[in-house]
Amino acid sequence: MQMGHLENKVKSAYIHIPFCNTICSYCDFCKVYYKTNLIDSYLDSLSMEIAEYYKGELLDTIYIGGGTPSCLSIDKLKRLFSIIDKLKKIDNLEFTFECNPEDINEELLKLLKSWGVNRLSIGVESFNKKILKILNRRYDIDIFSKIDMCKKYFDNINIDLMYAIPSENIDILNNDIDTIIKLDVPHISTYSLIIDKNTVMYNKKYKNIDDELDYDMYKLIIDKLSRYNYHHYEVSNFSKNGYESKHNLTYWNNEYYYGFGVGASGYIDKTRYDNTKSITKYISGCYRLESNKLSYNETVENAFILGFRKIDGINIKDFENRYGFNPRNIDIVKKLVRENKLEISEYNIKINKNYIYTSNDILCEFLGIDYQIEKNKNK
Ligand SMILES: C[S@@+](CC[C@H](N)C(=O)[O-])C[C@H]1O[C@@H](n2cnc3c(N)ncnc32)[C@H](O)[C@@H]1O
Ligand code: SF4
Repeated sequence: MQMGHLENKVKSAYIHIPFCNTICSYCDFCKVYYKTNLIDSYLDSLSMEIAEYYKGELLDTIYIGGGTPSCLSIDKLKRLFSIIDKLKKIDNLEFTFECNPEDINEELLKLLKSWGVNRLSIGVESFNKKILKILNRRYDIDIFSKIDMCKKYFDNINIDLMYAIPSENIDILNNDIDTIIKLDVPHISTYSLIIDKNTVMYNKKYKNIDDELDYDMYKLIIDKLSRYNYHHYEVSNFSKNGYESKHNLTYWNNEYYYGFGVGASGYIDKTRYDNTKSITKYISGCYRLESNKLSYNETVENAFILGFRKIDGINIKDFENRYGFNPRNIDIVKKLVRENKLEISEYNIKINKNYIYTSNDILCEFLGIDYQIEKNKNK
């Protein structure tokens, strides 16, 4: 199926480092306890996976996430970076490294800088001791001095903030937002707590806060951050001008990226794939769990669902170039515009901001449509 030129470039690589020193009560990510003797075998496998699948494309963004990449020793990090060094990069690469606050020190920051990292993503989550205890995260760290130290080396810093945690109230969140604003970093990612099965929180029978409070918290975050010039550019992400995450925009723009490492996912050559979540299998060289070549309809579905995560929505021209029809002409878009749930300008289609919080309902309407028929109707 002809889909246009923008579809074909691999832009990004995500690299997963699954090791963590402690396991947080809410965490359903692919992670294992840090074990020194596993690290080298893991890095061997990572190196082999990259050698097997990487086709030499020039990358715009690299993201090392986890797990906790920052818990590796300096020696192991040097090995990791020498593996990643084989990837070809554009000159103004965005290169992100995830850190947990307790791991931040001058030696680590110097090393990251020397290998070309230019963006840090720091899992702060909350500043409230009671909340951090519930999350089973360290609550004895002086975040202000850690962020000051980071700023000596990096200007592009993201902080992750979680909310809607059992026993959290609006005042606690309000304090957290005030504190994060004082830290004055250019990017903030927010996460409403999800209590997944197979987590300590689930087993301890913690319950989600009620929907109304969750909504009030979401509103508070948007209102306060906007007042401090954070641009709300994606459902849960905020940035100062020019500091939007290029890496995450690759995902939301439905563009190609590699996922390397245990539990990683990728999208290459019209195919979405998931790697095994088993570290044993990964180390034995079985990387892929499953891959699924997308039909035209599935590709367009993803373009809508991911694209509408961006507050500015879908760029009409790009969409038309890539998928062969003008999205404003199709029935479901027309209907949602009539219902005032979508807004159209000359350039963009986006979700009306009053519906962002409940946007899942709108996104579901884009599932199961025969876009091939829509495309033919609109030729
Ligand atoms: C990929 S995770 C891991 C990053 C890093 N290991 C850490 O703990 O900070 C990135 C972010 O997802 C968020 N997150 C993880 N599990 C979550 C959950 N169950 N509900 C909501 N947010 C979650 C946290 O804010 C976390 O910082
Ligand atoms: S939230 Fe982060 S640090 Fe905590 S267990 Fe999960 S991956 Fe590890």
